[in-house]
Amino acid sequence: MEKTIEWIKTNNFGYSKMIDQTLLPYIYKKISINSSKDMYSAIKTMIVRGAPAIGIAGAHGVVLGAIESLNCDNFVDNIKQIAQYINSSRPTAVNLNWAITEQLKVLEKNKNEDRRKIIELLIDNAIRLENEDIEINKKIGEFGSSIIPKGAAILTHCNAGALATVGWGTALGVVRSAYEKDKTIKVFADETRPRGQGARLTTYELTKDGIDTTLITDAMGAYFMRKKMIDVVVVGADRIALNGDTANKIGTYMVAIAAKYHNIPFYVAAPKSTIDSSIKTGNEIVIELRDEKEVSVINDKPICANGVNIINPSFDMTPSALITGIITEYGIFKPDEIHKLFTK
Ligand code: MRU
Repeated sequence: MEKTIEWIKTNNFGYSKMIDQTLLPYIYKKISINSSKDMYSAIKTMIVRGAPAIGIAGAHGVVLGAIESLNCDNFVDNIKQIAQYINSSRPTAVNLNWAITEQLKVLEKNKNEDRRKIIELLIDNAIRLENEDIEINKKIGEFGSSIIPKGAAILTHCNAGALATVGWGTALGVVRSAYEKDKTIKVFADETRPRGQGARLTTYELTKDGIDTTLITDAMGAYFMRKKMIDVVVVGADRIALNGDTANKIGTYMVAIAAKYHNIPFYVAAPKSTIDSSIKTGNEIVIELRDEKEVSVINDKPICANGVNIINPSFDMTPSALITGIITEYGIFKPDEIHKLFTK
């Protein structure tokens, strides 16, 4: 399976290669990232985006930091500082912190080894995380496909697909696994203002796979629910609290409220690494605020009155009471049971 983001090994350690998602769906282009500074900027500017994908980008960022630190007096401390810097690129998706922490564990365990050996170990660990991400998504897909009725119309918000992960996807992994069994399923993709991940990325991925996909604007979901044209909602997640409260792309909360009103099941599909076991409820989740120009400008043209107030939260939090189940690689959990994954 082609990877959205991967470490390319060379004689001189190598580099990170990723699809530039800001160019899709018009241009498909892979770019190389060779420095921790460029990785910070690739995450911040959303060249790479989606919680699991930015986790892997973070793991690669640590490798790049280690390569840059090769001749520093304080090799280990320097890598840790760079790791912290990469971790500050985006605040909401916990996978970034999770994957960086996985790398720092390898660093800590091997800190007395030869520097070049440490870098090789960090590369191996990053590649392990990449491969595991695909395996995990396949499991999420397999469990999730069990809740998709035959011929169902599935509403999804944002892009939780192959592009948001290393491959296959979480919410779209569920769609893909369901489609393998039943070619008659359909997807309604929310446009996902302001960055348009649903319009640009979800429709791109799904139509390429031949899956029947209808693009709707974010305000249309409730209309189609009322018309009984949606059977189930499946979305991804950026951070899940121990009580099941879930942060995902702005607008997800509105979809969940509409689904509840219309008695439509609302599922979150996410790996265990998206669950933040350090927070009890979603109120503790930091919501990223992004540039107001994402709202006020389209195709370099202002779309509103000059000087109007704008605020641009990139995520919202859906309370667990609105969530039917959380689909993970360990099975499907009721939101108030998700904490059990940490007591095993
Ligand atoms: O701002 P983005 O594009 O990084 O936001 C992505 C989402 O909200 C996804 O739904 C989430 O990260 C899950 S991706 C498997």
